Amino acid sequence: MRALVINCSPVRGGATAGIAEIVAGALSESYDVKSVCIDDYPFSFCKGCRSCHATAKCVMRDGVDALMAEFERADTIVCVSPSYWADVPGQFKAFIDRCTPWCNTHEPHATLSPGKRGYAIALRTGPGMPECERIIQSIEHFYGHLEIECRGHLGLTGIEYRPDLEARLGEIQAFCGRIIGDADAG
Ligand SMILES: Cc1cc2nc3c(=O)[nH]c(=O)nc-3n(C[C@H](O)[C@H](O)[C@H](O)COP(=O)(O)O)c2cc1C
Repeated sequence: MRALVINCSPVRGGATAGIAEIVAGALSESYDVKSVCIDDYPFSFCKGCRSCHATAKCVMRDGVDALMAEFERADTIVCVSPSYWADVPGQFKAFIDRCTPWCNTHEPHATLSPGKRGYAIALRTGPGMPECERIIQSIEHFYGHLEIECRGHLGLTGIEYRPDLEARLGEIQAFCGRIIGDADAG
């Protein structure tokens, strides 16, 4: 079983990266884990040309192809996203836009192999959970249109920097336990 853990923040050493590392470490007991950062993959913005609605392919060839190859290799995908202005970071949103060739609202569209499972983790500095839920909804909307089954999510408030994670380790590890439990249940 392969898992893909994505740090959806451009910050490679921040709290989001810290959560992604905890998740990757926990899942490595049961999965062959690949960890990536959204900023590992240079790509252009979607131009909204809709060529992909007719061809199921983007007119641009860039880092999106390599990141989608990682999606294809994975059985389980975990997106870990901070709140940037109450939404996903622009880099991650730009990637989602570029996944329009895989969006199941038009025919033809590109497809990932069936049976993939997706999990979402959202974090923010502020105290309210609705902002995390909004980010989780964006990720689950993305999974849905790629026909990745949404299997669970976790929202973490009150986190700005890595040291804030120490008190939340139990929550994050319990969530990882659920992911591993899902895999064991088949
Ligand atoms: C550009 C920017 C915008 C942010 N906007 C919000 C926000 O709207 N609400 C919030 O609670 N936290 C916000 N944060 C804080 C991050 O969600 C928080 O620091 C997170 O723990 C870690 O982000 P990082 O891993 O990218 O460093 C923002 C941070 C940055 C850099």
